[in-house]
Amino acid sequence: MRFLQISVVLCALAATAVTAQQGNTTQPANPPPAGGNTTQPANPPPAGGNSTAPGVSCGVQNDWSRIETQAQLAQLVGTNCTNLLGSLLLAGPGITDLSPLAKIESVQLSIDISGTNLRTLTGLGNLRTVGENLFIHDNAQLSNVFGLNSLTTIQGGVLVYQNPQLVSIAGLATLTNINPNKSPRFAFGISVYGNPILAALDGLQNLKSVGNVVIISNNTRLNSLDNLPSTGPFPVQSITIERLPVIKTLTPLSVFTSAANGTALKVTTCDSLTSLDGISLASVTNLTLTHNAALADVKVFGNSKISGPIVQVDDNTKLCDLSPLQTAAGGVSGAQILNTCGKPQQQTGGSSTAGGANSGGFPGGPNMPLPGSGSFRNEARFTFVTAVVGLLGTVFAF
Ligand SMILES: *[C@@H]1O[C@H](CO)[C@@H](O)[C@H](O)[C@H]1NC(C)=O
Ligand SMILES: *[C@@H]1O[C@H](CO)[C@@H](O)[C@H](O)[C@H]1NC(C)=O
Ligand SMILES: *[C@@H]1O[C@H](CO)[C@@H](O)[C@H](O)[C@H]1NC(C)=O
Ligand SMILES: *[C@@H]1O[C@H](CO)[C@@H](O)[C@H](O)[C@H]1NC(C)=O
Ligand SMILES: *[C@@H]1O[C@H](CO)[C@@H](O)[C@H](O)[C@H]1NC(C)=O
Ligand SMILES: *[C@@H]1O[C@H](CO)[C@@H](O)[C@H](O)[C@H]1NC(C)=O
Ligand SMILES: *[C@@H]1O[C@H](CO)[C@@H](O)[C@H](O)[C@H]1NC(C)=O
Repeated sequence: MRFLQISVVLCALAATAVTAQQGNTTQPANPPPAGGNTTQPANPPPAGGNSTAPGVSCGVQNDWSRIETQAQLAQLVGTNCTNLLGSLLLAGPGITDLSPLAKIESVQLSIDISGTNLRTLTGLGNLRTVGENLFIHDNAQLSNVFGLNSLTTIQGGVLVYQNPQLVSIAGLATLTNINPNKSPRFAFGISVYGNPILAALDGLQNLKSVGNVVIISNNTRLNSLDNLPSTGPFPVQSITIERLPVIKTLTPLSVFTSAANGTALKVTTCDSLTSLDGISLASVTNLTLTHNAALADVKVFGNSKISGPIVQVDDNTKLCDLSPLQTAAGGVSGAQILNTCGKPQQQTGGSSTAGGANSGGFPGGPNMPLPGSGSFRNEARFTFVTAVVGLLGTVFAF
């Protein structure tokens, strides 16, 4: 059942269209921030305060403000708001201009920009901090994320996914901190997936913290992993490198090291990858290494310890020397290390890779709380559970 759940979530992430809704279509309310009221921005009352106060607040404490039109946006923000309470969902094609947000400096919880026809993020130029996650997804016209000129800190994760016209995330270049406290509450870290024409990861190079999770998946024209941050080391709990048919090397991943209890690693359906050089994980858990058509060299595991419960290596036609894996994973019960050397490649990419998904872990971090579990934040649940529900049909096919 656990395994099925993981598959479900994985399929959700593989979804093309995230349209299905859970029974309750209203925006989920956010629970209070952990630690009681201590994460509350120290705002004075918006009206009647003294004029030298640190800022004017708007929005709804610990809840979502769902905004679908420019008029709603203008009404929410007013003229002088600098601190947006709660979370902001900017949803749908009625959102055409972010300039009403020009004075916003902080958002208490999350921002979700989805389904808009924005081409860029001009208007968010004073935004410095996001208290939970920044979601940018399913925006049909979004070409870049320029406009975030002051953004330095995201306490949760940054998720950029399924933006069909997105060519660049260089607009994230001011960002230095993702989950600097490595709070286990935040399951995303760097999550960039399903952006079919994204060519490069420029924009992530200045990060000094990355959170717990790195997912770079299904960006089919991504040329390389260059411009991941270079000044680590960053211990992470999971790394997912998936469906990146053009990348030739993983060397930029050398900045990521094992978390105290190991790092879940998934490398799958990367057709041009010949070796895993760059992986610098002393302790690998939950290894999935499948459907890599050119992969011939896994010597990098010579110095690793690989542990279960799931270790799956399959359908890597060129991979003939399995010894570094077998040594590293010696004795792991349930390890499925299949020698597919010289056998016809079953699966080399494309979009029908749900089977690959079934073999690994949750791309959102295999060890992360699943949607619906108590510790999974509601705003994330909003984004993902809807997808899960829509894709149950796919799962039943397994
Ligand atoms: C990959 O991303 C594309 C574009 O967003 C999407 O259409 C496709 O379904 C995704 N494929 C998988 C297997 O996730
Ligand atoms: C829907 O969710 C809202 C916000 O969480 C809640 O107040 C409401 O009771 C829910 N309605 C149903 C029918 O579950
Ligand atoms: C938290 O704030 C709410 C109102 O904002 C208040 O009712 C409650 O007593 C506060 N709790 C603590 C622990 O301060
Ligand atoms: C605002 O006024 C209060 C007294 O009403 C004062 O204690 C506080 O320091 C003032 N804030 C600023 C930022 O000057
Ligand atoms: C916004 O700030 C300006 C300049 O400080 C002030 O003149 C104006 O009254 C404020 N507007 C509101 C609605 O508070
Ligand atoms: C590793 O540790 C982190 C943080 O304590 C925890 O969230 C995660 O579940 C652990 N992973 C495993 C496989 O125990
Ligand atoms: C590995 O997979 C197991 C079983 O699915 C899961 O319980 C565990 O949290 C995973 N560990 C990591 C680090 O992903």
